[in-house]
Amino acid sequence: MELARLIEAAVQVRQRAYAPYSRFFVGAALELRGQTDIFVGCNVENASYGLTICAERMAIGAAAVKYDLLEYPPHRIVVAASPVAAPCGACRQVLAEFGLELEVFVVDPSDPNGRQSYKISDLLPNSFQLIDRKRV
Ligand code: THU
Repeated sequence: MELARLIEAAVQVRQRAYAPYSRFFVGAALELRGQTDIFVGCNVENASYGLTICAERMAIGAAAVKYDLLEYPPHRIVVAASPVAAPCGACRQVLAEFGLELEVFVVDPSDPNGRQSYKISDLLPNSFQLIDRKRV
């Protein structure tokens, strides 16, 4: 999968964000190892603020309803926001669930210089894990 297609999907779905409180609109596009589908998510806020769903976790959910994430783990995720935003702490833990090699690419659609890529293990060192992936 070309990175450009994932970026395009994240930028597109960002328009679906429901963010009347923060006005901070986020789109995410995810690919799984061994599959070509793109799974997208956007943030959905709530009047009870803490119930807000982040774009990254919605994209994980979209993938989970179609594929077994143990068999096809998330491999790369693009997050589109302006200004550029690295995933929040809760999303880092959720993303790290599926392996520490996951690449997180953050983009600002209105700033071509505002791009960066990280490995999830750098964003969340020593993450809490219960699955020994070598044994799955
Ligand atoms: N948000 C995300 O969707 N992903 C992130 O990684 C950071 C924050 C959303 C949550 C909330 O709707 C808005 O951005 C402001 O925090």
